[in-house]
Amino acid sequence: MCAKISKVDEITAIASKRGIFFPTAEIYGGKAGFFTYGHIGKLLKNRWETLWRDTFLNLSDNFYEIQSNNILPEDVFKASGHIEHFNDPMSECKKCHSRFRVDHLLEDKSIRVEGLSQEGMNKELAKNKIKCPKCGGELSEGKMFNMMFAVPVGFAGEKGYLSPETAQGAFIAFKNMFQATRGKLPLGLAIIDKAYRNEISPRQLFFRLREFTQAELQIFFDPAKLDIIEENVWNTVKNYKLLIKKEESDKIQAISLDEMNKNMKIGKFYLYYLAKVQQFYFEKIGIPQAKLRLRELGENERAFYNKTHFDVEIYLETLGGFKEVGGIHYRGDHDLARHQKASGEKLEVYHDGKKVLPHVLELSFGVDRNIWTLLDLFYAQDTAKSAGGDEEERYVFRFPASLSPFHAAIFPLVNKDGMDTLAESIASDLRKDFQVFYDDSGSIGRRYRRMDEIGVKYCVTVDSQSMKDKDVTIRDRDSLKQIRVKISELREVVGKLINSGDFNVVVK
Ligand code: GAP
Repeated sequence: MCAKISKVDEITAIASKRGIFFPTAEIYGGKAGFFTYGHIGKLLKNRWETLWRDTFLNLSDNFYEIQSNNILPEDVFKASGHIEHFNDPMSECKKCHSRFRVDHLLEDKSIRVEGLSQEGMNKELAKNKIKCPKCGGELSEGKMFNMMFAVPVGFAGEKGYLSPETAQGAFIAFKNMFQATRGKLPLGLAIIDKAYRNEISPRQLFFRLREFTQAELQIFFDPAKLDIIEENVWNTVKNYKLLIKKEESDKIQAISLDEMNKNMKIGKFYLYYLAKVQQFYFEKIGIPQAKLRLRELGENERAFYNKTHFDVEIYLETLGGFKEVGGIHYRGDHDLARHQKASGEKLEVYHDGKKVLPHVLELSFGVDRNIWTLLDLFYAQDTAKSAGGDEEERYVFRFPASLSPFHAAIFPLVNKDGMDTLAESIASDLRKDFQVFYDDSGSIGRRYRRMDEIGVKYCVTVDSQSMKDKDVTIRDRDSLKQIRVKISELREVVGKLINSGDFNVVVK
């Protein structure tokens, strides 16, 4: 009897077969913590990034996207504290020489690590007699290991580092961008780019990578305005409920922004953006309500400079629990104060007639983790009728229409009698506005299956009737309903379908 394949293995197999993702340098055996997005994965990632930009950059006309560098000078990381503090505790097996993060070894045995020092972790390691998970060998004491990749720059021994977060690029660009824009606060600087961390034990697929993409928005604001936002703006969100897991509780509670402001003493400015993040997940990405929570991190867990910190966590069946995909960090003046001191450049600005060193509210997202979330949440196995009328098992990604790698697929039913020529001309017309996949190989049933497996929501088929009536069939991936649409109206209908994400808007 065959063993049941896990959901992770199913997704990974489809991802590799269809060009969503695969291990980098697989022909050399791959390297832990590095993945390549194939053509479909890259389209999906582009879609997520576009939705992110459309959502967060549109929150203010003083928010901008910039591009910094992946390699930054050592001085930046001395000032930011990464050289001193960006360390993880590592232990090595004395027998097989595998390396592990001590906090992970403890967590895997359900030992709480929050607030434990390096010494405290070593004590727990010894007390619980934890052995090498690979060979059972004895483990060394944990030592701190810096997670940045050092890069020599030029030929004079100058040191740089691959940036472990996009945030530093925005902090060091603040002065230039404040001057280049309207000289006003709040100023938002967004970066979507690679981040690099030499993780000791990359694991959980896209959750602990060594090279990954972050989408971060740093909002520089006047600290005097932490609890002040325009009343008409506050009124649009104050009764909106956030799904909060408080530090001291295991329950998820729906709490309005107004209550959080009054009872938990969290500033309105912070809460407004926390609400925008939750709305992004529910309204744009289509995450089911029960699968998201905003987890409050207490003093022992959050970085010392973060004054308020909630993580966005999503329940993932493939990883067996709620997992962090982003964080909303109120970083205070930590970043600009340290860069000001180390560089000697004044980073204070004139605002509302006074000198201010802006504080930073950071919205930080791991793009790859968010892509895995889409694969986990929208993957399904069900049945659909084949061309011959039989029920066939199918694998499908039910991505919302706006995230579908292709907006539509176009098929001629057969490659003759002018159907292929008509289908090609429809595809080239639709390409003016949409991303379209043209497929004329194999049976129509197989072509549907291929599109289901990469999550394309709408398939358009040209058949013999199309030649007479100048219309086509659109099939919806999820309901499997089909409608006939005039070719002359197709562009408009596809646009409506993508925007609404609902087949019923055009079903009469
Ligand atoms: N600038 C703040 C910052 O970098 P972080 O919590 O270290 O904060 C932000 O990272 C997000 O980046 C995380 O919520 C996660 O989604 C993603 N991330 C962090 N480390 C990662 C890794 N090794 N692999 C994949 N994604 C990672």
